[in-house]
Amino acid sequence: MRLESIDLQNFRSYDWLSLEFSPAVNIILGENGAGKTNILEAVSCLCLSRSFRSAGNFDMLKKGKESFSICGSLRNDSEIESNVRIEFDETRKTKNVEVNREKLQKITSLVGLFPIVFLSPAQSSITFGSPGDRRQFVDIILSQTSRVYLEALMDYKKVLKHRNKILAQGLKDIMHIRSLVSPWNERMIELGSKIMNRRMEFTNRFSAYFSKCYEKLSGPNEVPGMQYKSSFDFLQPEQIESMYRNKLEEEFKREIEIGCSLVGPHRDDFLFTLNGFNLCSYASQGQHKTFLIALKLAEFEYLKETCNETPILVFDDVLSELDSIRARKLLETTGSKAQVFVTSTDEHLIDKSSASLGNVTKIFIKESRVEKIEQAV
Ligand SMILES: Nc1ncnc2c1ncn2[C@@H]1O[C@H](COP(=O)(O)OP(=O)(O)O)[C@@H](O)[C@H]1O
Ligand SMILES: [Mg+2]
Repeated sequence: MRLESIDLQNFRSYDWLSLEFSPAVNIILGENGAGKTNILEAVSCLCLSRSFRSAGNFDMLKKGKESFSICGSLRNDSEIESNVRIEFDETRKTKNVEVNREKLQKITSLVGLFPIVFLSPAQSSITFGSPGDRRQFVDIILSQTSRVYLEALMDYKKVLKHRNKILAQGLKDIMHIRSLVSPWNERMIELGSKIMNRRMEFTNRFSAYFSKCYEKLSGPNEVPGMQYKSSFDFLQPEQIESMYRNKLEEEFKREIEIGCSLVGPHRDDFLFTLNGFNLCSYASQGQHKTFLIALKLAEFEYLKETCNETPILVFDDVLSELDSIRARKLLETTGSKAQVFVTSTDEHLIDKSSASLGNVTKIFIKESRVEKIEQAV
């Protein structure tokens, strides 16, 4: 998959921007605040229908404007072209997504058509942060490979919201609360079990990709691991529903006390280990960085095989966060296999790390305008 061109209107700091990209490495250069990340954010909207920095549509609308649009021309590995148009209108409160001039009935149908992997400094939260950060990492991969998963996840979130609203009311009569919560329980169990089963399967499959990528980066002496941690331990998928039901019953009184749902995939975590020890308490800063890069490379390989399409890679500001050896490895490993977008403030930092890359396009951005474009060899 590659993005051939993009056209923005009233998006973030841009009134208007039209860019053509190289099929290999695109380096977006400019000072802080120039508008580099805004371009990558538009790329992520084209592929995932949303911002990779979790911004809302209104945040992405240029201040003072009423609507924004993002148009992109993409070409897949079989050379088939797709044109995507995303339009958000603040006054009418509408967001439309068109693929080849046909409006998608569900915006989320876009997810998975154009696989993407992104990495930014904020994503160090995958190894350092809370279970929610790790769930999001897994959910974005699984959503790009399975429409069924994405829909189950979205429906589950709705059920959870209803259920939590009841539990948070502070009602005292247990029988009454039970009668209100029960109708949601079966749907929660059905959707939650589906999600948990997929997450367990994913962890087993993904671990193999991950170990390989980690070994390539750091050699065979360190052994990384990833384990799925759910609200209850199950071994077989058939066990999930009945164990879920029992666990809900067991935790019901505590749920009332605390006022929210305590059982299900929204409480899942993924435990990362290095040489058998918990990564959080064991690994050095450098090992955390290697771990994160290995996770992202594994995400790339996993999506590539599962979607049967090479994902686009988007690296925002990561080169300054990495030392030059890691940065070079990251670019060398990916630049020859896929279309890559990289932002940096330092033109020369890239020179050092991209010496062996060959075909590199440098796009210089100044005050949200293209200053110049250079083909570097
Ligand atoms: N909705 C918006 N409307 C207008 N300008 C915006 C909007 N959101 C962000 N900006 C501007 O975009 C600029 C930041 O762009 P960004 O791409 O994050 O910069 P960088 O080049 O450092 O990555 C800032 O100057 C900010 O004021
Ligand atoms: Mg930036």
